[in-house]
Amino acid sequence: MLSVEDNELLTRTNAGTPMGQLMRRCWLPALLSEEIPTPDGPPVRVKLLGEDLVAFRDTQGRIGLIGERCAHRGTSLFYGRNEECGLRCVYHGWKYDVEGNVLETPAEPGDSDFKKKLHHTAYPTHEANGVIYGYLGPRDKMPLFPDYEWNQVPLEYSYVTKALLECNYLQGLEGECDSSHLSFLHRAISNERNQILYKSDTAPAYETEDTDFGVRLIATRTADNQHYIRFSAFVMPVYGCVPAGRPTNEFEGYEIHIYVPADDTHCWRYDMGFRRDRAVRNDEVHRRKQIKPDYTRIRNARNNYLQDRQMQKTVNFTGIEDFLNHDACATESMGPIFDRSKEHLGVSDKAVIAVRKFLLSAVKEMQSGKEPPHLIRDKERNWFPHVDCFACLLPHTTPWRQQFDYFTESARKENPASYTARRKAAS
Ligand code: FES
Ligand SMILES: [Fe+2]
Repeated sequence: MLSVEDNELLTRTNAGTPMGQLMRRCWLPALLSEEIPTPDGPPVRVKLLGEDLVAFRDTQGRIGLIGERCAHRGTSLFYGRNEECGLRCVYHGWKYDVEGNVLETPAEPGDSDFKKKLHHTAYPTHEANGVIYGYLGPRDKMPLFPDYEWNQVPLEYSYVTKALLECNYLQGLEGECDSSHLSFLHRAISNERNQILYKSDTAPAYETEDTDFGVRLIATRTADNQHYIRFSAFVMPVYGCVPAGRPTNEFEGYEIHIYVPADDTHCWRYDMGFRRDRAVRNDEVHRRKQIKPDYTRIRNARNNYLQDRQMQKTVNFTGIEDFLNHDACATESMGPIFDRSKEHLGVSDKAVIAVRKFLLSAVKEMQSGKEPPHLIRDKERNWFPHVDCFACLLPHTTPWRQQFDYFTESARKENPASYTARRKAAS
């Protein structure tokens, strides 16, 4: 349980709030590349950390992420004309470039230098594997873009979807740090082939470890003299990394679920995934079928997620289709911002507690003048923390620390390049 004050501290992210300041020091997904696929195409609205923005791709392919309201008298630039390297307001023709410079004020006298005195809100962007990230913080504090493994594979080895979640970001994020819900919320009844391990031990043992990216979460279930171990990760500030699907011991990739605050009562859930050694087939991204063109979900709170009570008896635990909607039902029905002073945490919530502790300490330390943890600024450094995330079966006599000794931070620092090879060899 959290005090009302700490709950407020963690959940509010608008400009000026402590958590809002922490988030603004990190690169965050702002939109998908597919939303502005072509130069001079239509701009789109972007809601991020309570701010109303528009994104556009200019004639040269550069991306602008700028304030939605025109600096002149506030008309929405969403309706603007994207032409000749700038976005032009439809009201009086003021034109902005991707950096927020006012290029033209055609309704002003020809000799006016008014435009030189103005600068419009504009944020730096970075595009990687189908996602456009924005940095909304102070320029002199901007860290390097965190080039994690999932951003480095070829585009076709990865996939990404985006969907609106109608609740505070923390509810979504905490769901990623909670392995025990796999045994219930996502349980299949009719197809139990992959469910044996989840069902045989519904109370996994949890361990958490602080790392150089956030917190590693280890859930161990016991079945038939074996340990089924799921290594998940919380990556600062809003990323949850989870092993994809069943326990395979294959050298495959994993999923990254990101919960970016749109405002305090809505967030964008980005589901990214990648494979290390093959392209992802379209039919593997079944989640796309659940999402409408405007990135809201077909199954939502207003239609009770199209829950089917007969299906709930015979097919799966919820009677609702797709993991995305299971998670949404569980987290949205807690209310727009859950009051954590009213909860009752158990042993199974150990990982949730560890992640909250991490975020609370980061935000409180920042309030006392310290820099946020795990942001990388050293341009000379040529590697980023290796997150890794997988599920495996081990004989119950083999401690995972022995099998995966290179998970320690010192081992990674010693030889980061060999990390992937060692991981492969250990699989
Ligand atoms: S309000 Fe945009 S140019 Fe006047
Ligand atoms: Fe889930």
